[in-house]
Amino acid sequence: MKLIKLDAIDSTNSYLRRLAAENELEDYTVVMAEKQTEGRGQMGTKWLSEEGKNLMFSVFKKINHLKKNNQFYLSMAVSLGIYDALSYFIIPQLKIKWPNDILSVNSKICGILIESIIKKGEMSATIVGIGLNLNQTDFEGVMNASSLKKITGIYYQREEVLFKIIEQFKKYEKWVADGRYEELKTLYEHHLFRKDKPSTFKLKSGELIMGFIKGVSDQGCLKILMEDEILKEFDLKELKLLY
Ligand code: BTN
Repeated sequence: MKLIKLDAIDSTNSYLRRLAAENELEDYTVVMAEKQTEGRGQMGTKWLSEEGKNLMFSVFKKINHLKKNNQFYLSMAVSLGIYDALSYFIIPQLKIKWPNDILSVNSKICGILIESIIKKGEMSATIVGIGLNLNQTDFEGVMNASSLKKITGIYYQREEVLFKIIEQFKKYEKWVADGRYEELKTLYEHHLFRKDKPSTFKLKSGELIMGFIKGVSDQGCLKILMEDEILKEFDLKELKLLY
């Protein structure tokens, strides 16, 4: 693993993409920053994080022959790697909120932004961006966010947590490379937030619906058993799970 530490950058994902465009990068090249001026979240949102207190990093990994239909397995591998790393630090009540937020005691402690590098119409590499709240304790104005320190009272060393995440992500990335898709999905669904519980979702139209999360499809859609007993699949753009 090659670690590049930066004081400040627009976004570690954007920086790594620029770096990959100009250089032949080693797998598991990691860029970590104390501060991001344009930290990016999923669906065009901003990722805000207090300077110097949390983990903000991006990982480069070349990808060979992963079919478009199987790309969500990579996302599962990332979530599961973080899950196992946080379990190692005995973080309580961990869950994966679809598609890939990590919760502890029902609060979001970690967000993941996975971006692809496409060459000749195929995914040639991935940039996995991870924002993990470690030692920040003030989350005023941010809905449902928390940190490891807020939850356990313990101060965390950034690099210790980073190395554990990389180690665990490597383990699950190998599962993806070896085509162990069913095992990945079983484990992912086992850790899924609100699985088999009655839950409320907000559709793109603003309409609220009720249903039970049953799992995910190979493409990463959420399978919901609706009130009329029909199983439907939704993608990320279609709905949001309310807490
Ligand atoms: C989300 O939950 O919306 C995803 C947040 C991802 C944030 C991380 S911080 C490091 C990396 N660089 C970014 O600009 N975003 C990701």
